Amino acid sequence: MDLRNLNILVTGGAGFIGSHLVDELLKENRVVILDDFSSGKRENIAHHEGNPNLRVVTGDVRNRELLEEITRDIDIVYHLAVRCLRESIGSPETTHEVNATGTLALLKASLAHSVRRFIYVSSSEVYGTAHYVPMDEKHPFEPTTVYGASKVAGELYTLAYQKTFGYPSMVVRPFNTYGPRSHFEGVYGEVIPRFVLRILNGKPPIIFGDGTQTRDFTFVADTVRGILLASQCDAMIGQAVNIARGREVSINDLASIIAQQLGRNDLSPIHERKRPGDVMRHYADISKATRLFGFVPDVDIEQGITSYIEWFRAQDYSAGELLDGERVFNW
Ligand SMILES: NC(=O)c1ccc[n+]([C@@H]2O[C@H](COP(=O)([O-])OP(=O)(O)OC[C@H]3O[C@@H](n4cnc5c(N)ncnc54)[C@H](O)[C@@H]3O)[C@@H](O)[C@H]2O)c1
Repeated sequence: MDLRNLNILVTGGAGFIGSHLVDELLKENRVVILDDFSSGKRENIAHHEGNPNLRVVTGDVRNRELLEEITRDIDIVYHLAVRCLRESIGSPETTHEVNATGTLALLKASLAHSVRRFIYVSSSEVYGTAHYVPMDEKHPFEPTTVYGASKVAGELYTLAYQKTFGYPSMVVRPFNTYGPRSHFEGVYGEVIPRFVLRILNGKPPIIFGDGTQTRDFTFVADTVRGILLASQCDAMIGQAVNIARGREVSINDLASIIAQQLGRNDLSPIHERKRPGDVMRHYADISKATRLFGFVPDVDIEQGITSYIEWFRAQDYSAGELLDGERVFNW
């Protein structure tokens, strides 16, 4: 499927990954963003203000009437709207309603209006801690959080629509993604922005647990390219695919890479209690993405951290003020 001159709906398009996806899609298409701005930000899409090819709808994926209205005349849906992992610890029902029920409602509306393709952006959290590495798409689902379980439900609904109705849908499973616009605030705060903020303020990074847990950190440009390539690949219909860097980095190593790049190797991390349900090991096998649609990630963790720090410094942010609002245990 050629991604040009189409009408595209991106749910969660004002969020971190969604806004980067919208940046790419708007180059040759018309885009509708559906976002309730619970974690998404106007500033992530402000540079498109006045673009006649972008319509922003403030609304909820649980609103069935709204879904009925906005899926009319849409060619492709990229479904990214989500309540995050840490929110799922305190608000499991809301997480279920948005991530699982919201996905089902959107599938139903998309099928009813003959949307030609449905891309569900899932998460490596569906796997839980690795039983073997690298983790391919056949790795069992053993989510450790309600968030991960709700993403499994979203995946299974998406693929069930393909099996039951022959609906052209697919699942893309990004691993931990970082880069410009990733969240540093409150319950949404991610590990890389949080480490950067603390170190810029001369404070040691705080690691939950012993720091030996690993993630396959993937730069947002690579994640978005993977989503776009997958969505154009006909062989992906009815399939799931990993999108990741394909390298394993421990949280301890991540803290030292960031400290080194900020010239603060003297700041040794503090270790605090583990986050409930924390996955201990993630490392992706990305050979399916390479085989099916030629996906090869570009950005190593060191380069990605450098780009993120450059971006952060170019913003009008005060690191001190941002840290003032920090909640150490942000779940
Ligand atoms: N960031 C990562 O490391 C990562 C890794 C793997 C998968 N993912 C997946 O990528 C997608 C995007 O994640 P992100 O990191 O950009 O998160 P994000 O929080 O920045 O984006 C989610 C967006 O969904 C919106 N939203 C939340 N509830 C909504 C609702 N009820 N109705 C409409 N919009 C709603 C938020 O306002 C936000 O803009 C998610 O589906 C997530 O599961 C993210």
